[in-house]
Amino acid sequence: MSDYVPAREHRFSFGLWTVGQQGRDPFGDPTRAPLDPVDSVRRLGQLGAAGVSLHDNDLVPFGSSAHERDRLLARFRAALEESGMRVTTATTNLFTHPIFRDGAFTSNDRQVRRFALRKTLDAIDLGAELGASTYVFWGGREGSEVTAAKPPVDAFERYREALDILCGYVREQGYDLRLALEPKPNEPRGDSFVATVGHALALIDRLEHPELVGVNPEVAHETMAGLNFCHAVALAIWAGKLFHIDLNSQRIGRFDQDLRFGQEDLKEAFLLVRLLESSGYDGPRHFDAHALRVEDAEGVWAFAAGCMRTYLILAEKARAFDADPRVVDALATAGADTLGLETLPGGYSAQAVRALREETFDVDALAARGYANERLDQLVVEHLLGV
Ligand code: GCO
Ligand code: MN
Ligand code: MN
Repeated sequence: MSDYVPAREHRFSFGLWTVGQQGRDPFGDPTRAPLDPVDSVRRLGQLGAAGVSLHDNDLVPFGSSAHERDRLLARFRAALEESGMRVTTATTNLFTHPIFRDGAFTSNDRQVRRFALRKTLDAIDLGAELGASTYVFWGGREGSEVTAAKPPVDAFERYREALDILCGYVREQGYDLRLALEPKPNEPRGDSFVATVGHALALIDRLEHPELVGVNPEVAHETMAGLNFCHAVALAIWAGKLFHIDLNSQRIGRFDQDLRFGQEDLKEAFLLVRLLESSGYDGPRHFDAHALRVEDAEGVWAFAAGCMRTYLILAEKARAFDADPRVVDALATAGADTLGLETLPGGYSAQAVRALREETFDVDALAARGYANERLDQLVVEHLLGV
């Protein structure tokens, strides 16, 4: 593929809230007019995306009547059909309304928690109705600024309780829906409870139906915490829990920037695409990013097209990288191809341990070997620079 034209089979998707982001920030008013979800679907379809994701309130404003919900749904479905697009993913807005100021599933107020559960049940119905196969949980307000005000052990227990209830509902309804927890270290809360992919996996392990629940890692979120995103995604892959992914770009130590994919971290983006494309991950390549505030309405579509085009370019670069004999050689010298070998084949046995004890190791030679990391990384840089 040399023209980098996105097509349905690439499984690109965008949140309605991403292209619909109006350029509002904590210091300034919107710089762009609201986008009708119907127009977003049409435009993204023309650009070659395969689907969209949405919060309940991206489509049905908070507090809408049942009649209004049905009307909005009908015209949205028509746009999907007409554009050959699908809803891949749905989620609940549990962060905008002031009722959620202290959290949703982990609010100290039990009535707020009950309201959050009910809102999520309704939003799960909506997602299922629209044919979504993944349901995302980003706990935007599930955290605190004043640690003493919200007993954190209780908060984790309420999180578990909510997820168990919702899994019970999904199972009983027979929905073909998997849940994906999206971690984030902070923002909008001072500190979030489910801060990293590791936190999410630990929580999933304690659930009644862990098989239904995986993770939705986001480039910006692990990067905000100063962590290696590829390692986070790899951990999720290794655990069989990569159910979804939020792609964007981010510089360490900043607020959640939600930049166009590859904008600030090309090398990380390259390594991520290489990992994803070789992992067997077959879910949406989902962009959770938005156009810069200085853009006008057309700039939004340049942003969206750029996300997909960069992904396709990096996928091609990853293939070329792995096919380059110099890379193959450097990888072999690095020993990258032997990390896949079992260290003690078959695992523990008394006999294997005995044999291990009898083995002679050439410690000096092992300590002296080089790993060609400089050579390998230079090749990464040269492939990215196109020389
Ligand atoms: C953020 C999050 C959100 C979620 C979205 C879907 O930092 O605001 O990334 O964009 O991904 O709410 O759950
Ligand atoms: Mn984010
Ligand atoms: Mn996200």
